[in-house]
Amino acid sequence: MGGLRLFPEQASTAAAKVDALYLGLVALTLFFGVLIAALLVYFAVRFREGVHRHGEVPAPHPWLEAVWIVIPLGVVLGIFAWGFQVFAYLRRAPEGALEISVVGRQWMWKVQHPEGRREINELHVPVGRPVLLRMISQDVIHSFFIPAFRVKQDVLPGRYTTLWFEATRPGRYHLFCAEYCGTAHSRMTGTVVAMEPARYAEWLAGVPPDQRPAERGRELFNRLGCPQCHRPGDATLGPELEGLFGRRVSLEGGASATADEDYLRESILDPRAKVVEGFDPVMPAFAGRLDEEEVQALVAYLKALGRSGGR
Ligand code: CUA
Repeated sequence: MGGLRLFPEQASTAAAKVDALYLGLVALTLFFGVLIAALLVYFAVRFREGVHRHGEVPAPHPWLEAVWIVIPLGVVLGIFAWGFQVFAYLRRAPEGALEISVVGRQWMWKVQHPEGRREINELHVPVGRPVLLRMISQDVIHSFFIPAFRVKQDVLPGRYTTLWFEATRPGRYHLFCAEYCGTAHSRMTGTVVAMEPARYAEWLAGVPPDQRPAERGRELFNRLGCPQCHRPGDATLGPELEGLFGRRVSLEGGASATADEDYLRESILDPRAKVVEGFDPVMPAFAGRLDEEEVQALVAYLKALGRSGGR
């Protein structure tokens, strides 16, 4: 326990950048706040009633006006550039990040690692490696917030959102839901455990892993009867799925779409929303028949097919 701490500790690569921006804004605000308050008092005294004659209008000073337009403009553009730089850093995950699935629901966080291990209200991550969370909600809007990492992202029903970070220090950190989501919102908390990579590997291997999402997806794919129409090498009834992920797809009506996670999810739950050119809208909808974890498993399987296929 140290003395007074204004901020949670800085435990990710983003933390120092976010804090610097925040403190910079506080310093700037303090500077102008104090300057304006001081001038206010000074002018109130200096130009108090009786000291000056009324009705004296000072001559215009074009250069003075230019100065007070150009300087504030430069200041706010500087804030914009700085803020944008930090924002872009927070939004763009590096290539090759470790991808972990998160499902938020009233009132818990469910996590699954690509190797299959699952956890609830805990998230184990290696330090020194970018981690990308692909998140969705089973019900209402939640928000995934790790103060020590200075990252926060809404978790929405109906579409995937992502959040990335790179932990820099082993330790246990708070995980909060930062969006009011019902009665037990305040208990929708958890722990992020950042570990040395070797310890993380041990932890992953510590229990017999659950099924990998992609394997579970393959089983679901077969059980739901998808191969009846989506046959490898035969795209008469349904489009081929090998090599599909990440590609541009032409749709009925002339539009096109990129086959990303959201597209795959929508096409499973509501196949008529985007019908691939040359096919009839005959696929049954799976909305209401699959939960988000099952959809994530199917998407993981289709992504794996995408990698093994055409590309
Ligand atoms: Cu979930 Cu608040």
